[in-house]
Amino acid sequence: MRTRPLKVALLGCGVVGSEVARIMTTHADDLAARIGAPVELAGVAVRRPSKVREGIDPGLVTTDATALVKRGDIDVVVEVIGGIEPARSLIATAFEHGASVVSANKALLAQDGAALHAAAEEHGRDLYYEAAVAGAIPLIRPLRESLAGDKVNRVLGIVNGTTNFILDKMDSTGAGYQEALDEATALGYAEADPTADVEGFDAAAKAAILAGIAFHSRVRLDDVYREGMTEVTAADFRSAKEMGCTIKLLAICERAGDGGSITARVHPAMIPLTHPLASVRGAYNAVFVESDASGQLMFYGPGAGGSPTASAVLGDLVAVCRNRLSGATGPGESAYAALPVSGMGEVVTRYHISLDVADKPGVLAQVATVFAEHGVSIDTVRQQGKDGEASLVVVTHRASDASLSGTVESLRKLDTVRGVASIMRVEGE
Ligand code: HSE
Repeated sequence: MRTRPLKVALLGCGVVGSEVARIMTTHADDLAARIGAPVELAGVAVRRPSKVREGIDPGLVTTDATALVKRGDIDVVVEVIGGIEPARSLIATAFEHGASVVSANKALLAQDGAALHAAAEEHGRDLYYEAAVAGAIPLIRPLRESLAGDKVNRVLGIVNGTTNFILDKMDSTGAGYQEALDEATALGYAEADPTADVEGFDAAAKAAILAGIAFHSRVRLDDVYREGMTEVTAADFRSAKEMGCTIKLLAICERAGDGGSITARVHPAMIPLTHPLASVRGAYNAVFVESDASGQLMFYGPGAGGSPTASAVLGDLVAVCRNRLSGATGPGESAYAALPVSGMGEVVTRYHISLDVADKPGVLAQVATVFAEHGVSIDTVRQQGKDGEASLVVVTHRASDASLSGTVESLRKLDTVRGVASIMRVEGE
């Protein structure tokens, strides 16, 4: 074993960074044996240097992250500060000064992944980011390496634990969105400002990263259609139950049409209770990957939290350190397929539409005609009437999102349609 240690700079020492530092210390001997050389924490960049950090030598702590990555003797920079800047500049500087990078930064990878990969390649260094998607669950490496010889057709999953906790609560207790969110906040699952989670931004960034790798193409956050889950109601869950379904916030990336393009989307959807994703409870994540030769694979586990995310970071650190020792680099960006990302209109799926209508002769026929005019075939219709008004639930066969949008637009124009109470896609059948 080499005795000269590989030097690691840690950028950020919050929930994830402090766990990375702890495991580097407590598992030092095992890590050294697995890598073939000791790994040494050479510096820790933080915002608040006065904070007491158990197990971290105060002499390693600095507020000058730029100076740390510019030192020239750093082999690997571990970036766990998150956000776009200063993370982006620090990573670029790290490559310029000869370091490889391990990052957990989904927002940055989803926005600037191509440029970061190009910088890594230019300097002959590694960029690894298993921790950016679904915490401890191995997804990036299976897609990049284990499935490199297969053809992935679809990635479908629950990649946000906060929203899965909220939806699971609504499902199991009949609670409304706000009540379930309040509980998630009280238990520490939801942040004080839950926007990134509940509006689907977090899941959309992860979907962009997964789609890019799965389909060997460039997919950015802006390419991902996104709907949050704040409008999901207790009534939606009752409807879902009547259909033998539950509701999940899903990230879905798939080949579109004849396979010449792809789509990537995040939105709440009904899925049958028999689908494996329906039994993903609490704050857990799970991702289904469907490919030509392997068939269906499911990856399941804790998608967030200091320790699970640190596990993914440490796995990358070991891989990158091994590469440093052997003078190799791991797989870089694979975007040769360059498939364009189609808009949401081209997505084909089933829909559950709940309408408030007048309960009088001919209304059902009128509604059915609108569906027919837009080429959307109805699978089932359920009606419940009371005092001249009725609630009409229509479930369609597969149709394009564009056709469904046209249908809904026309339905809204009917005098007999008082309102469109909800529209939900039905997936996983
Ligand atoms: N906030 C995310 C979640 C974890 O709830 O899953 C970090 O991406």
